[in-house]
Amino acid sequence: MRELAGKTAFVTGGASGIGLALGRAFAEAGMNVVLADLKAEALAAAVESLRDVGPGVRGVACDVADPASVERAAAASYEAFGKVHVVCNNAGVGGGSGIDNISIDTWRWVLDVNLMGVLHGIRAFLPHIRAHGEGGHIVNTASMAGFLSGFGFSPYTASKFAVVAMSEGLATELKPLGIGVSVLCPGFVRTRIAESGRNRPARYGPTRTPDPASPAGALAAQIAELVQSGLDPAAVAVRVLAAIREDELYVFTHPEMRAEVERRFSGILAAMDKAAAR
Ligand SMILES: NC(=O)c1ccc[n+]([C@@H]2O[C@H](COP(=O)([O-])OP(=O)(O)OC[C@H]3O[C@@H](n4cnc5c(N)ncnc54)[C@H](O)[C@@H]3O)[C@@H](O)[C@H]2O)c1
Repeated sequence: MRELAGKTAFVTGGASGIGLALGRAFAEAGMNVVLADLKAEALAAAVESLRDVGPGVRGVACDVADPASVERAAAASYEAFGKVHVVCNNAGVGGGSGIDNISIDTWRWVLDVNLMGVLHGIRAFLPHIRAHGEGGHIVNTASMAGFLSGFGFSPYTASKFAVVAMSEGLATELKPLGIGVSVLCPGFVRTRIAESGRNRPARYGPTRTPDPASPAGALAAQIAELVQSGLDPAAVAVRVLAAIREDELYVFTHPEMRAEVERRFSGILAAMDKAAAR
């Protein structure tokens, strides 16, 4: 979608981090923006922070884990701006630790938000984008954890691998319709993702913080540090806007992680070679 000005973008997880940076970049590009988020107070502050940036920025309450809530947020967006063209299924939470420490509730929470949340956004908006026929673009936020599973956070990596797979399939399906798909795969970005426990609804039970002295606790602390020294979310947003304009499927922001991806794929190819040799 080359022309963004005058169009409308919908961004989940828009109250913080990457989502808020996307909202700002879209507004600066002359788009109307709907920021959708679970946290009412943070959402109000985010909308306020963009008040002077672009033509129209709205906040809408939304729990991406609940399909009805996403449908309501979509309806509120049409009411505010008529049409939506760009949908960023970006809300996400980090959770888990060592595999034997992870409760079933944590698996459900992370998969409900990171995977089902993306699906709910696609199902809510795709019929509308198809129907208005002005073109559109869907951006699903995965992660480098959608390609590399050595992070020790199984629900998170499982959800992000699934978002990569879903986005690849969706891109093929929507290409003939002129609707673009991108999957955003950042490494560490300076956001509040390491404090995801703040976004855990009571229905998933309490957040269990691992003992700092345990390997899981040490890993969590290391990840929090890496996030703190991560990339500026504004730089991620610049890449996403370019990918929408150029219709790029994969959006990487951390080329220094290339060697790790190569290691994974060469392991897979070596196993294929072994199969071929037998
Ligand atoms: N920060 C990183 O290092 C990093 C790296 C790769 C991928 N990501 C991904 O980027 C996306 C954005 O995360 P971030 O880093 O900006 O974190 P963040 O915690 O700063 O922002 C996440 C936002 O999502 C919202 N949210 C959480 N659960 C929600 C729900 N059920 N419904 C609606 N909104 C909900 C939160 O309220 C918050 O505003 C996530 O999908 C995350 O997995 C982050």
